[in-house]
Amino acid sequence: SFELEIASTGKVIKVLPDQTALEALHAAGVDIPMSCEQGVCGTCLTRVKAGTPDHRDQYLMPEEQAANDQFLPCCSRASSTRLVLDL
Ligand code: FES
Repeated sequence: SFELEIASTGKVIKVLPDQTALEALHAAGVDIPMSCEQGVCGTCLTRVKAGTPDHRDQYLMPEEQAANDQFLPCCSRASSTRLVLDL
């Protein structure tokens, strides 16, 4: 599991192993738009201020993934213990 921190509020949300980051955000009342839920459409794209995403999407270009400043929470996870989201 890993944690998501909402930068604007400081709220910390735990993402369980059987949950997507997007599901955890929605369960915590954070409204992120979504569509495909498979990492292909880009609708759920979210800016990352700190931490390292574990990119599992097919939407971002390899160099965009390498920049680690955005991720697709419908499918991607984190390789650091916490991601701070620009929300
Ligand atoms: Fe389509 Fe996340 S909802 S990429």
